[in-house]
Amino acid sequence: MSLAEKVKIVEAQREDILGIASVLNDTLGQDFKYGIASFEENVKYCFSRSLEHKHEKIYVAKDDEDVVGFAWFMNHPPNNGTAILEMFAVRKDKQRLGIGSRLITEASDMFIEDQRRLGVNLRTLHLTTNYSNEGAQTIYTRAGYIIAGEIKCFVGDGNVEVVMVKKVSNEACPAEYKTKI
Ligand SMILES: CC(C)(COP(=O)(O)OP(=O)(O)OC[C@H]1O[C@@H](n2cnc3c(N)ncnc32)[C@H](O)[C@@H]1OP(=O)(O)O)[C@@H](O)C(=O)NCCC(=O)NCCS
Repeated sequence: MSLAEKVKIVEAQREDILGIASVLNDTLGQDFKYGIASFEENVKYCFSRSLEHKHEKIYVAKDDEDVVGFAWFMNHPPNNGTAILEMFAVRKDKQRLGIGSRLITEASDMFIEDQRRLGVNLRTLHLTTNYSNEGAQTIYTRAGYIIAGEIKCFVGDGNVEVVMVKKVSNEACPAEYKTKI
């Protein structure tokens, strides 16, 4: 059995935060280097708060007890049925083994179902990723996300982010959100 088949995709618990920090350390860790607190303190603060929030979910890919990747979703009602994939990464030494593909597909479905159980029917999931991050775009596309546009200078001059959206429900767009073109 390959590692991608063997890993378990489960909802994160408090004891997984250190493992998430180790995934972040060699992937998206720069996002937690801000302010006066240390990287570790910022990670612990953000993820322990998230675990308390019923409309946020973190899913981890675990090889036995080892956290090798995570996907972090946020849905903050009141809203219009749109939720965001806030962050997604696989630890560098475990990349290109198919773990990311499995994680994003299963975690997206788990989050949609989890919110449904809370009475929230999501219409879409969306995310942004760097225009140059072709690997991530490939995985998202395979998981049902489509490129919906781009944002220039999102993180500052020289940055272009691709916006990707996964349609979750076939409900028509509510009239008040329709755009006149
Ligand atoms: C993006 C990321 C999560 C992918 O995870 P992964 O477990 O390596 O992905 P997979 O093994 O499932 O890759 C599946 C396919 O996607 C494509 N792909 C993945 N990473 C790629 C890369 N760096 N360059 C080009 N294609 C890539 C390939 O087609 C790959 O299939 P292949 O290995 O058979 O060629 C991982 O590279 C990562 O954590 N990157 C840093 C953080 C990041 O960019 N997160 C997303 C930002 S929003």
